[in-house]
Amino acid sequence: MGNIFSDRISDVPRSFIRDILKLALDQSIISFAGGMPNRDLFPVKEINAATNKLFAECGKDILQYSTSEGYRDLREWISARYKARKNIDVPPDNILITSGSQQGLDLLGKTFVNEGDDVVMEEPGYLGAIQAFSVYKTRFHPVPVDEAGIDTARLEQALSGYRIKLFYSAPNFQNPSGISYSGENRARVARLMEKTDTMLIEDDPYGELRFMGSDKPSFYRLLPHKTVMLGSFSKIVAPSFRIGWLVAEDEVMEKLAIAKQASDLHTNYFGQRVIFQYLKDNDIDAHIEKIRRAYGSQRDTMVSSIKEHFPGEIKYTRPEGGMFLWITLPEGLPAMEVFRRAIECKVAFVPGDPFYVNKKDVNTLRLNYSSVDEETIRTGIKRLGGVLKQLLGQKIKKSEIPSICNFKKK
Ligand SMILES: Cc1ncc(COP(=O)(O)O)c(C=O)c1O
Repeated sequence: MGNIFSDRISDVPRSFIRDILKLALDQSIISFAGGMPNRDLFPVKEINAATNKLFAECGKDILQYSTSEGYRDLREWISARYKARKNIDVPPDNILITSGSQQGLDLLGKTFVNEGDDVVMEEPGYLGAIQAFSVYKTRFHPVPVDEAGIDTARLEQALSGYRIKLFYSAPNFQNPSGISYSGENRARVARLMEKTDTMLIEDDPYGELRFMGSDKPSFYRLLPHKTVMLGSFSKIVAPSFRIGWLVAEDEVMEKLAIAKQASDLHTNYFGQRVIFQYLKDNDIDAHIEKIRRAYGSQRDTMVSSIKEHFPGEIKYTRPEGGMFLWITLPEGLPAMEVFRRAIECKVAFVPGDPFYVNKKDVNTLRLNYSSVDEETIRTGIKRLGGVLKQLLGQKIKKSEIPSICNFKKK
């Protein structure tokens, strides 16, 4: 076809996770590779009832075009929830409903980033954010995160050395690592950001899914004029609606609304109405509590299985919420190599590589616990433990050899 494609799209990395998910569709593979909520917790009956009620009561009204900013009642609901949960005042006028928070990231790239502009990205960081900003030919500055939060010395270096337009941050149960920024870390970040004209993006799809510890202050509260906050119904109701939101101050909001119009006029109005009806007729707190309890228990099972079956030198995070756990292998053992061997033993995960903007053959990997039941978590982690012990040349007890893996053949 010749080279008819834009540089913009030609240079964007293909989503490696999509490729891996295809592999993991093989029913015989235990997959910790997905990033999906537990489907057994979707409120199917309640969504069905909300939809029927809407058709009965509103009929053709729910099938018409609507406003770019989103359904007013839904924005008011989101505003009231910020007040009730976090005591933050977010006027509904400062909320833009987006097609998932993923679209929020795209709109931010479109609105703020010129070719070659500098953006700070967490390392490791959310692959979807790396992809969204790559489209705008961003120059990334990765800054490491660990169990205390972001490395503020490295953040300060980036902020003082370059004109950083955006700093992408997911401070609660980050994807991919599951770590959260401590209260102290957030305060230090806010102090650094005060001195700059960088916009902080607070991506928070997992904030409500805390199963231990206590909530930490939002950047939107610490730094209201320099923060754009993203939220989503994907992890607390269902991702198929593709409904999320973005909170920004007036001037930014005006530009984002233009970007939104140019993209898709408005977010699916029918879906917004169904979600709102569902929220109105049901106890969302009770529903979220159910998700928290299930994920907390799945996380505990994964952590205790890792303790039992993984070689001692392997490090892992202990998330207080969210859906992911992060593994650090000994130096010199690339996660890709473990992945290839693990697939032969019918267990999958995401090697760390796609979560870094400029590193390859890394020794880290992501495990998802939300979409796998606890019995399967135990079996899968035992299998993976066997693979790791074999690759590290350690003795494996007979009882630890997963029957599915014939190590002797290697
Ligand atoms: C950190 C983060 N941000 C944004 C998204 C996109 O979510 P949504 O379904 O709201 O587009 C995800 C999805 O997994 C995510 O992990």
